[in-house]
Amino acid sequence: MARKKSRHSAAPQGKKAWGGRFTQKTNRLVEAFTVSVAVDRRLYAYDIQGSIAHCQTLGKARVLTAAETKTIVKGLQSVKKELERGRFRFTQQDEDIHMAIERRLTELIGPLGGKVHTGRSRNDQVALDIRLYLRDQLGQLTVHLENFQRVLVAKGKANRTVAMPGYTHLQRAQPLLFAHHLLAYVEMIERDKGRVRDAVARLNVMPLGSGALAGTNYPVDRLFTAKLLGFPSVTQNSLDAVSDRDFMIEVASALSITMMHLSRLSEELILWSSQEFRFVDLPDAFCTGSSMMPQKKNPDVPELVRGKTGRVYGHLVNLLTTLKALPLSYNRDLQEDKPALFDALDTVTASVEVLTELMRRLTLNREVLKQAVEGGGMLATEVADYLVGRGVPFREAHAITGRVVRAALDQDRELTDFSLQELQKFSLRIEKGLFARLTVMAAIDQKSQIGGTARARVEQRIKELERRLS
Ligand code: ARG
Repeated sequence: MARKKSRHSAAPQGKKAWGGRFTQKTNRLVEAFTVSVAVDRRLYAYDIQGSIAHCQTLGKARVLTAAETKTIVKGLQSVKKELERGRFRFTQQDEDIHMAIERRLTELIGPLGGKVHTGRSRNDQVALDIRLYLRDQLGQLTVHLENFQRVLVAKGKANRTVAMPGYTHLQRAQPLLFAHHLLAYVEMIERDKGRVRDAVARLNVMPLGSGALAGTNYPVDRLFTAKLLGFPSVTQNSLDAVSDRDFMIEVASALSITMMHLSRLSEELILWSSQEFRFVDLPDAFCTGSSMMPQKKNPDVPELVRGKTGRVYGHLVNLLTTLKALPLSYNRDLQEDKPALFDALDTVTASVEVLTELMRRLTLNREVLKQAVEGGGMLATEVADYLVGRGVPFREAHAITGRVVRAALDQDRELTDFSLQELQKFSLRIEKGLFARLTVMAAIDQKSQIGGTARARVEQRIKELERRLS
């Protein structure tokens, strides 16, 4: 058949793997606008792992011969080495990491490299890569979260008899063990790990074999690919498999919640290290100074953790918004998923790491905490509960105690300063037995049910957590 030379031999898209049907060279602006290799290059090891499993599956299906499979796998391993050693040269035409790797493979092993993409699309390929990547990264994040928990538990243990004011509405409420406060965060992180585990269980499904959207024409054994890659199951609908990003949204959501927890702790560290509180000292090595005011020591690390929280929430909203009106199946919008996901993961990982080291070096101002916990009428509930023990209905006990509190405020005294005679003016049910309950430690130890701040409970929880985290 006669073909017009100008259209075919010039091959304006000759360097593009998909260039066959094009008659114009990609515009320079479009190339720059659509390229994603700077972001998705971090997927290279997973991309190659997936390509190797794909070729082995093609080999098993006799789509590739054993010799072809072997050559391609060896070629892919060489490409991986180049990438690992920083010797891989990306070119202007490398649109994304998938194309870059295939391009280099073909340079190394010749036209046979062109067989790697048989029965596969970048759509199922990228879906696989992100799942492999997340499985790995979330495992690492869990390790970081556990280190953080270990530090919080150890810090609690080292200060296990230190009391502090507990707050509601940021008003002094009841005395607590400082350790109990730290262990509250350990519980939060425990749930965070659970959310990560759940997300991994749901994303651990193998999408390859979905092709671009409709499935594959080749007799590939998808369960075999899954087994090679350590997936317990395969996706059941090709359209869903290439356009599903639920798992990324779940991860971004879990990361947002983790970040919220880190931000709450940061907020407390900022408050506690202020001159108004002075409960703790942040390590100098984790603070910065002012360019103008020589006396300043600023809590920039917790401030930045708090500040970066909005950024992670933003990524979650970004992903939800990207997906909300996307028709099935793959659309290029989905390429925007990776900057959001990667930055969310990087931000949370860096925040956990730096807060772990900061908390390891945190010092408590025990004197300040002691003074703070003695004040503020925080034993008032103990008076009311003492009266309840003496047969007074709680509501009445609350009212009686409220009058004692009022008197203490009017006279600028502490509840604990009143004599028995003075107290008996408020209720004759009060006897000298009350005084044994009116100490900070008695108030703390009285809260001895599961989950309470009593020393024995907290020590028990520390032991349980130590065992779980060892
Ligand atoms: N870089 C693309 C992404 O991350 C890979 C898939 C591209 N597929 C396509 N048909 N253009 O989404």
